[in-house]
Amino acid sequence: MMNYQNFKDIDINVHDYDIVLKIKDENDISVARQMAKSFAQKHNFSLADVTKIATAVSELSRNIYRYAKEGYIYIKKKETEPDKDISIEIIAYDRGPGIENVERAVAGGYTTSERSLGLGLAGVRRLMDSFYIMSEVGKGTIVVAEKRRRKF
Ligand SMILES: Nc1ncnc2c1ncn2[C@@H]1O[C@H](COP(=O)(O)OP(=O)(O)OP(=O)(O)O)[C@@H](O)[C@H]1O
Ligand SMILES: [Mg+2]
Repeated sequence: MMNYQNFKDIDINVHDYDIVLKIKDENDISVARQMAKSFAQKHNFSLADVTKIATAVSELSRNIYRYAKEGYIYIKKKETEPDKDISIEIIAYDRGPGIENVERAVAGGYTTSERSLGLGLAGVRRLMDSFYIMSEVGKGTIVVAEKRRRKF
């Protein structure tokens, strides 16, 4: 896991992203899920991977809504070389309360919600090929996750 040293140094250029979604209502969670699903389908990800990407976006959006009240989901297609394999990158960004113990939160089974299992972040890490989280108490949280397209 990589931890960014300085939260304020993270600079997301919205123009680099295919989809930018503000999460502020509960409805936005399903909108984000649907957008991620369509985007992955459009780029010919397998049905299983479409579902994984959509679930990851849904979990990250729900965390934003629950813990930070509002924030953003950024989604883009990445390709290293033309005609080479592509991947989809997801960023969840908020300026909410942050997470005190990031290792513990990502390990799974830890939650500050009453009726939750605390499996969201652990699930996102498992569903995606790469997963980075940076969180600072009082500043906010950024999750960057990527899924490569596989031949199917
Ligand atoms: N964006 C965020 N801002 C602040 N705290 C967060 C954020 N995302 C997660 N957390 C903290 O990390 C904990 C673990 O998050 P995770 O998504 O794994 O589980 P959960 O949201 O508690 O439960 P579940 O996702 O299984 O319904 C949360 O309970 C919360 O304390
Ligand atoms: Mg969660």
